[in-house]
Amino acid sequence: MSAEVHSRGSIRRRLMVQLLLGAAVLAIALFFIVQSLARQLAEESQDNILAAAVSAILDTTSVRDGEIQLDLPYSAFSMLSNISNDRVFYAVRFGDDFVTGYSDLPVVTKDDSFGPWFDTTTYQDDEVRIVTAQRRLASGETPLAVEVTLAQTRDGQRDQLMWISQSAAALGTGFFVSVAVLALLAARSSISPILRLTQSVSRRGPKDLRPVAAPVPHEMVPLVAALNSFMDRLKNSLTRSEEFIADAAHRVRTPLATVRTQAEITYRRVEKDENRASIREMIRAIDESSRAAGQMLDHAMVTFRTDHLEQQAIDLNALAAEMIDRLHPMAELREIELVLEQQGAASTIGDTILLQSALRNILDNAIKYSPADSVITLIVSQDAGMAHLTTSDRGIGLPIDDAERLKSRFARGANVEGVIGSGLGLTIADEVARAHGGYLTIANNSKGPGACVTLSFPLQ
Ligand SMILES: Nc1ncnc2c1ncn2[C@@H]1O[C@H](COP(=O)(O)OP(=O)(O)OP(=O)(O)O)[C@@H](O)[C@H]1O
Ligand SMILES: [Mg+2]
Repeated sequence: MSAEVHSRGSIRRRLMVQLLLGAAVLAIALFFIVQSLARQLAEESQDNILAAAVSAILDTTSVRDGEIQLDLPYSAFSMLSNISNDRVFYAVRFGDDFVTGYSDLPVVTKDDSFGPWFDTTTYQDDEVRIVTAQRRLASGETPLAVEVTLAQTRDGQRDQLMWISQSAAALGTGFFVSVAVLALLAARSSISPILRLTQSVSRRGPKDLRPVAAPVPHEMVPLVAALNSFMDRLKNSLTRSEEFIADAAHRVRTPLATVRTQAEITYRRVEKDENRASIREMIRAIDESSRAAGQMLDHAMVTFRTDHLEQQAIDLNALAAEMIDRLHPMAELREIELVLEQQGAASTIGDTILLQSALRNILDNAIKYSPADSVITLIVSQDAGMAHLTTSDRGIGLPIDDAERLKSRFARGANVEGVIGSGLGLTIADEVARAHGGYLTIANNSKGPGACVTLSFPLQ
């Protein structure tokens, strides 16, 4: 009998979810950080090249006879085309005059610094990065500023950024997948000490209440300490109950036997019929109490032992022969013949004391509910993986309408008036059979009178 264990949540799942969530957040952050760094770097490098190009152009400017002289250097434009195939626009102004280039190219708003000045704007329907730089040239009396504006579209940069974004996304995904695999391994390894402990406890035999000695991780020490202390208390309490059962049996049965002997002696002494009748009643009541006490203690013993079932190989033929021998004197008193019929080898695994108790109870019934001078057969047989112990008597038979009810505690048939009993015999036999993975079948003989009761156990 094991109580249902309620489970809520899973440590492994919780660990996995937390690790995966952490990994997802980190992967997304990684993606955005890489993307923003790449954008910053690309913008800086474009600005540097634009600044270098504009200053190379400015370096070639000079004034001769009040006219601006300009030789657009090839290097300036090749520098710009190196990074991408973006389009380049330029405009040169001298003082207030437009000299060459794209006259409608906007000029970057200048602040107080020495420049160059940068801006991002739209030109000819394209986003452009634009730079303006100045140089003062002596022209006549007043120096005039030559101003060069260079603009470059950002398509190449956008393509580069797209590529970098895709790489960052792939990197983030790869990172996430690797962390997921690591998380799985980490969850499995952190749960493994719990699984090892579970296996070592569940592999134990029913009577093995030794403390867990194998080393466990630090965090599990309180749990294992509590388990060990629980097993220790359980062991003590089991020992106490075992002692109590034995002690109680002794204490109840012995005084009852003494009282019975005394009552019998008194019975023989008294002469008045009415006194003899009351003593007979008294003896009967003592017998009933004695039987009930004995059966209740047997039942308690069965309940106790089925909780900690022993696993011994039991030869059912030997067990049956021994039980027939034991009950022989009791059967003889009523001139009942006990016949053992062995139909081949039959053995099972279990607790000998329990099996003896179950068999004694069904044989006891057969004897009790049979007429004097009849025959009871005990058959040991086997079929389909089960071994059977069947008692067959020629007695009053079972009240078959409510046969199953007779297996419950204190249930007695209506057909047993006058026969001493407590209604626990079949309960004991049924509990023993079920504890061993078998069953108890009660029926009446198909041919002739009497009951046919079978204890079945799995074959070894
Ligand atoms: N072989 C049998 N023949 C006829 N009736 C039986 C037989 N075995 C059991 N019964 C019926 O089943 C009932 C329950 O049997 P069970 O052994 O549990 O109790 P009991 O024999 O009355 O008391 P005890 O606990 O002292 O054995 C009996 O009272 C009887 O009516
Ligand atoms: Mg009985």
